[in-house]
Amino acid sequence: MNRGAFVTHATPQARAPLDPSGHERYTPGMPNAQPHPQPRARKSKLATDAPVLFFKSFLERPKEVGSIIPSSRFLERRVMRCARLDQANIVVELGPGTGGTTQALLRAMRPDAVLLAIEINPRLAERVRARITDPRLVVHCGSAEDIPGALAAHGLAAPDAVISGIPFSTMPRPVALGILRSIRDCLAPTGCFVAYQVRDRVAVLAREVFGKPSHAELEVRNVPPMRVWRYDAGSSPSPRLR
Ligand SMILES: C[S@@+](CC[C@H](N)C(=O)[O-])C[C@H]1O[C@@H](n2cnc3c(N)ncnc32)[C@H](O)[C@@H]1O
Repeated sequence: MNRGAFVTHATPQARAPLDPSGHERYTPGMPNAQPHPQPRARKSKLATDAPVLFFKSFLERPKEVGSIIPSSRFLERRVMRCARLDQANIVVELGPGTGGTTQALLRAMRPDAVLLAIEINPRLAERVRARITDPRLVVHCGSAEDIPGALAAHGLAAPDAVISGIPFSTMPRPVALGILRSIRDCLAPTGCFVAYQVRDRVAVLAREVFGKPSHAELEVRNVPPMRVWRYDAGSSPSPRLR
């Protein structure tokens, strides 16, 4: 499943204020202030095209993409509420797809936080890089099977939150359990894992690794309706089961 990772580093020096679409804020009257019409136009086309690329990617790799359309705004908002990212320094997203959920995460995160988005599909990883220029974002093309490797490649410490939309239901059980254990082992002591899925397989497997979820919700306005689970670090079952 791991097709060889390549990496892109965030540019920490470029931490200018951002507008909600992830662009540096244009302040009229400031020295050298220039609006950026071309990047805006390019980005909005990339956003409009996102469902098409998503669907094509599903046709090419249905089990890996796991859905025919990106998550809705309703689901994005529910996942953000569940993850409570206002105190997070480091956030990991597994499976950003075309980047809609990534943008929602960035909107919910602090201005000095970092988001590591791990995407297995090179074309989708490239799309997220092209669509989102927020300096807090690091896009890593690789598999969620190697979260420690991705964190180390970018010099990042234990994440405060791992948010996942990857399709656990289509993965072999050992692979899915391996990913869940590596999430549990890499989380900061007060960190959380939030998963959104149509089927409950991730919850069945996560019970073996994390114990009971601290929170579970259903978003019926998403197509298809999607469930959201939250697990808190330190809520693992007894070491015997780990
Ligand atoms: C259902 S889509 C979710 C996309 C987006 N987060 C959303 O909610 O609209 C799942 C994404 O996970 C990616 N993916 C699947 N398996 C993965 C893995 N092992 N590691 C990283 N990404 C993976 C797929 O390529 C796809 O982009």
